[in-house]
Amino acid sequence: MKGVKMHSPCCSYKLILLSVLLVVLLTSTTSSEGVVPRTTNNVESSEKIYGGERVYATEFPSMAAIMHFRFLFWRFLCGGSIISKKYVLTAAHCFDQRLEDLTVTVGYVAYRYGAQHKITKIMKHENYSRELITNDIAILEVNPPFTFNADKKPAVLPGKYEVTPVGSSGTIVGWGWTESSHEDGLRKAQVQIWNQAECEEAFLNIMPSQICAGGYDVEVSVCYGDSGGPLFVDGILVGITSFMRGCATYVPNVFTRVSYFREWITLMTSV
Ligand SMILES: *[C@@H]1O[C@H](CO)[C@@H](O)[C@H](O)[C@H]1NC(C)=O
Repeated sequence: MKGVKMHSPCCSYKLILLSVLLVVLLTSTTSSEGVVPRTTNNVESSEKIYGGERVYATEFPSMAAIMHFRFLFWRFLCGGSIISKKYVLTAAHCFDQRLEDLTVTVGYVAYRYGAQHKITKIMKHENYSRELITNDIAILEVNPPFTFNADKKPAVLPGKYEVTPVGSSGTIVGWGWTESSHEDGLRKAQVQIWNQAECEEAFLNIMPSQICAGGYDVEVSVCYGDSGGPLFVDGILVGITSFMRGCATYVPNVFTRVSYFREWITLMTSV
């Protein structure tokens, strides 16, 4: 990890200027990685924000922001969901690159004001495939543990292999954050659960361990679902945002189907 961290005061003006220039150069060339949901081949990653609406502080108390420290700043990496005092559920692909200095912030809609919790362990699913983007699920252990209150609570998990009916109305939540455009505040958008066959037409291989959901129309944002963030149906965390094809297209987002991994979650966390 090529993070530029300045621990000790040092150096002459020239050196400081040089490092500032370097930091600016480096950050501008590595801008949008890991920030928007992963896109599939042949499709452009859109950085525009469509539709969606602001949410209230206590509306999604399980919402977590995964932040990493790079080039002097804390940056947003992925969304996640609190599932217990010690654990956060998110997408495995958020950790494709080796990252240091990771924290989880929770507790309020704007991640920059949230309480910080160090990530002490990253547990990716052993069958996570980077190429196919399958089994895209990971659990993070945090320290100190969360203290629950009105704006910090665990998400309700689905039962083992519980089916989410096609056509159900779902809600995706996220900061919809990219480094070129972002709003300071959590947003949500309504989506509809697709049937697997239709989703396969859009994305060739869709596994039973994945669930698709998309906007009702082209104007509705699916861009707000940050990678790793939640898809709720009736208040239950049924999906984890895994990948998408740009924004404002009538193509669904693909989510990791949480009910499919319910036993794995228990195995890893006793939750
Ligand atoms: C991973 O895949 C192997 C081979 O299909 C299977 O035996 C194993 O149970 C899987 N692991 C998990 C955690 O599901």
